[in-house]
Amino acid sequence: MITTQEIKQIRDQVRTWHAKGETVAFVPTMGNLHLGHITLIKEAVKHADHVVASIFVNPMQFGQNEDLDAYPRTLAADQQALVEAGAELLFTPTPEIIYPKGMGEQTFVEVPQISDELCGASRPGHFRGVATIVCKLFNIVQPDFALFGRKDFQQLLVIKTMVEDLSMPIEIIGVDTIREESGLAMSSRNGYLNSAQKTQAASLKQVIDTMSESISGGEMITEAVKTGTIALTQAGFTPDYLEVRSAKDLSIATAEHKELVIVAAAYMGNTRLIDNLSFKR
Ligand code: PAF
Repeated sequence: MITTQEIKQIRDQVRTWHAKGETVAFVPTMGNLHLGHITLIKEAVKHADHVVASIFVNPMQFGQNEDLDAYPRTLAADQQALVEAGAELLFTPTPEIIYPKGMGEQTFVEVPQISDELCGASRPGHFRGVATIVCKLFNIVQPDFALFGRKDFQQLLVIKTMVEDLSMPIEIIGVDTIREESGLAMSSRNGYLNSAQKTQAASLKQVIDTMSESISGGEMITEAVKTGTIALTQAGFTPDYLEVRSAKDLSIATAEHKELVIVAAAYMGNTRLIDNLSFKR
């Protein structure tokens, strides 16, 4: 696998592949890779002739009080895992390469409405940072496909909307969440949990599962949310949000919506975890 910080080297290599009629799938990451990321790479291998990954801890998507500096940097282990999973090219730019004028002077991409709700309401500017870096990375790599985890349900929707709104010729593929045996969704943030918190955190998935069963069985959404919030709190979480939305566009669920998603964000200690479940009723 070639690892490079150079935009030109990425472009030249992808151009060479495209000139031969070969396809390219792209998996952007912030590193500290776990089985969820590796699954994205393995899925990417199935979709295209070549797989490009990136590792960039994007300062633009972190709020002032968030964990940018503490975010684990594990390049050597990540490279090893990427090679084994089948990636051929890895882009590892610095913030100076990505934002040479500084972030304040940088043109940005903002997907309206959806960026301001749920995680966007708790983390103002987060999705602007995500959309901007993903747009930049797409312009650098110019992939045919790009893969993202469904764990970040809202992020996936923001990126799909951006690609559609800006007519980007890229197919976005969502990949199912990979979970620990306990049900806890895999996330780089799980590394911040101690073992007792990790055990407790598995209840996030259990609460969501129970809610989906009761709503499918006819319970009112408002009642299910009330019970779910109490259950989360009893399990040691401080809920940020727990909501039932339309699975299509994350709009507020009404009686007409049959395809729903439960979206949740909750703090276990200082660690903010998210999860979701799509279901039909
Ligand atoms: O999901 C992530 O790891 C990041 O938000 C992404 C998509 C790599 C953009 O920085």
